[in-house]
Amino acid sequence: MSESLKNIKGTQDILFDDNNIWQYLESNIHNFLNKYGFSQIRTPIFENTNLFSKSIGLQTDIVSKEMYSWTDQGGNNLTLKPEVTASVVRAYIQHNLGKKNPINKLYYIDTLFRRERPQKGRYRQFNQFGVEAIGSAHPEQDAEIIALAYNFYKSLNIKNLTLKINSIGSEEGRNKYKVALKKYLTPYKNKLSALSQKRLETNPLRILDTKIDFEIKIINSAPHIIDFLNKEDKEHFSKVLSLLDSLSIKYDIDHKLVRGLDYYCRTVFEIQNSKLGSQDALCGGGRYDYLVEELGGKPTPAIGFAAGIERLILSLNKDELSIFKRPNIYIINTEEKYLESSFKITESLRNNNFIVINDTLRRSLKSQMKDANRLNALYTIIIGEDEIKNNKVTIKNMDKGTQDYISFDKINSYFLKK
Ligand code: HAM
Repeated sequence: MSESLKNIKGTQDILFDDNNIWQYLESNIHNFLNKYGFSQIRTPIFENTNLFSKSIGLQTDIVSKEMYSWTDQGGNNLTLKPEVTASVVRAYIQHNLGKKNPINKLYYIDTLFRRERPQKGRYRQFNQFGVEAIGSAHPEQDAEIIALAYNFYKSLNIKNLTLKINSIGSEEGRNKYKVALKKYLTPYKNKLSALSQKRLETNPLRILDTKIDFEIKIINSAPHIIDFLNKEDKEHFSKVLSLLDSLSIKYDIDHKLVRGLDYYCRTVFEIQNSKLGSQDALCGGGRYDYLVEELGGKPTPAIGFAAGIERLILSLNKDELSIFKRPNIYIINTEEKYLESSFKITESLRNNNFIVINDTLRRSLKSQMKDANRLNALYTIIIGEDEIKNNKVTIKNMDKGTQDYISFDKINSYFLKK
């Protein structure tokens, strides 16, 4: 196949058994989030570009260099969603959800696009599930969201979890901190990478995120944002922490955690899995109390997080999951003239919720038997000349090798009894 016809770098096809894991996770996500009273929201795959520039921020990596944007035939500037929070807030405002309900607890499972450098755990098309609780400014809402994320991973028995948490306060404290951080970093300016030198002017907070060793050393002695927060922000943060303590959820306060999107305030957090290598953030989120207003709604506090599904899959111990479905029955039809009978039996078994496989390649009995073995079917039903003549089928238990001879009208009750 010519290179130009292959899938785009950073995208993937999900085939066969891997889809069992996706289905298993998706149904887990729905069940888990319904338990917390969250309801699903689906938003379009693309939006007006300015929705993302306005919410995520012009200086962020996502908006400045990673978005898939284009101008359509009508001259509209459009972008494939790089994240979901902006779309959820847009929908919240547009459909007046705040008026219908003082608190909206919403969740999504969605496909996103960012033109990042692909590597293990980082793709250009990837999937997230996420939650947004819009309406409460109270610390118990923060604690509920963080506990939800943490408990979700626990429920899947994922080990090596670290919950990192910080507070970046409100704008005033943050601005004071930016000045202090800039002052601290300026004497090191010439030692910093070109990117960090640029960030020193545009958004010094992002330097705290550095992965470069010598920059980490410099940052380790930088002032802490928490010391610049006002009394209310500090109280909010300590209440969030004490609620997490009451749930025995362990956390690390990470003074360097600021997150790469501009809409955050107060609590920010990430859950990391140390086994994942450089892309170790399983999920990330925080408070965004000003975003609804910035996008044209009434001032409404909110908090949420989003979790990468590919990274979740990389973290799963797949041997522990019983997600591989064995077909219950493989119908072996030996001749074209028995198709009607075998079709009828197949459909009536499927109506009773059995997983039933049938051959549509008109293969020989031997090849169909081989296929049943390959698929690890529990039983085969053979429909041949004798069977049609006597109105009975041969049912073979593939594990034990035993056979039963059952009349057509008893097939369903035979399997239902098992
Ligand atoms: P984010 O940190 O950009 O936050 O993404 C959240 C999670 O999505 C990451 O922790 C990671 O697991 C996954 N992720 C991000 N980019 C990629 C990628 N290129 N390939 C694979 N996985 C990726 C947000 O998106 C915010 N909207 C979260 C939020 C919701 N904040 C408040 N509410």
